[in-house]
Amino acid sequence: MNLSGNTILITGGSAGIGLTFAKKFRELGNEVIVTGRRLDKLEEAAAAIPGLHTIQSDAGSASDIAALASRIRKDFPKLNVLMNNAGILLYKNVAFPDADLEGLTVELDVNVAGPIRTVSALVDVIKANRGTIINVSSGLAYVPLTCSPIYSATKAALHSYTVSLRFQLADAGVEVIELMPPAIKTDMTADLKAGGDFQLMSLEDLLAATMKGLAAGHAEIRPGQSNQLHWMSRIAPGFINGQLAKGSKALIPAAKS
Ligand SMILES: NC(=O)c1ccc[n+]([C@@H]2O[C@H](COP(=O)([O-])OP(=O)(O)OC[C@H]3O[C@@H](n4cnc5c(N)ncnc54)[C@H](OP(=O)(O)O)[C@@H]3O)[C@@H](O)[C@H]2O)c1
Repeated sequence: MNLSGNTILITGGSAGIGLTFAKKFRELGNEVIVTGRRLDKLEEAAAAIPGLHTIQSDAGSASDIAALASRIRKDFPKLNVLMNNAGILLYKNVAFPDADLEGLTVELDVNVAGPIRTVSALVDVIKANRGTIINVSSGLAYVPLTCSPIYSATKAALHSYTVSLRFQLADAGVEVIELMPPAIKTDMTADLKAGGDFQLMSLEDLLAATMKGLAAGHAEIRPGQSNQLHWMSRIAPGFINGQLAKGSKALIPAAKS
């Protein structure tokens, strides 16, 4: 994709990975709109990045996504890049019953239904502008992190959906890219400690690797340990699944009594 002259919507762009890309894309001469749930974080982002547009919107809510799409059609009809980045991660103990069956699957609403609904709500705009969709999944799409079983499953689902989306949109001239970050130092990974074979990549390194992948036209961008997870899941799946299970066992929450 061209890295400048675009109109880019980044969901979940008020912190972490989304905010880092919002800043970079602005610097490269793009119109950038970010969403998020917390107004104060959106205001902070707007103050830090000149010319950034912000819209409060929850990626887990179908009605919020419909309202967001209406606003984009009206105010940003040239939208040609959609970056589905909003996501949440929860540590879950699934070995015991959970009384909150609604809350149990909240990650599915945000991480899977969010991108699927947002694409559906804006796909005609992206097609008309012969644009690009970037879905942010994870290296965990290949190998689950045992302490976050539902999160990992959402990223595997998003990966599968993204492959189909790429084929369905190929004839329309829409590029579909999947960014699969490894563990990155953000609020999301505050409880993860680097050590042994496990590393946390910086936002700067993720940005550099991704911009290189985008400029080179890669359909799947797998920086650092995500690429290792990709290959290990094919060469030695039992071994690598076991390694991530061992490494994350301490983060599995105790069963609720
Ligand atoms: N950090 C990692 O190690 C890592 C690795 C692989 C993939 N990823 C993926 O990268 C994406 C960004 O992660 P991150 O580490 O940057 O997370 P983060 O630091 O926790 O930031 C998440 C951003 O998304 C927003 N957000 C969360 N839930 C939302 C919702 N329901 N609707 C709209 N916005 C929402 C947050 O703002 P509000 O809370 O105010 O809504 C915030 O701006 C996620 O999809 C994540 O799964 C992260």
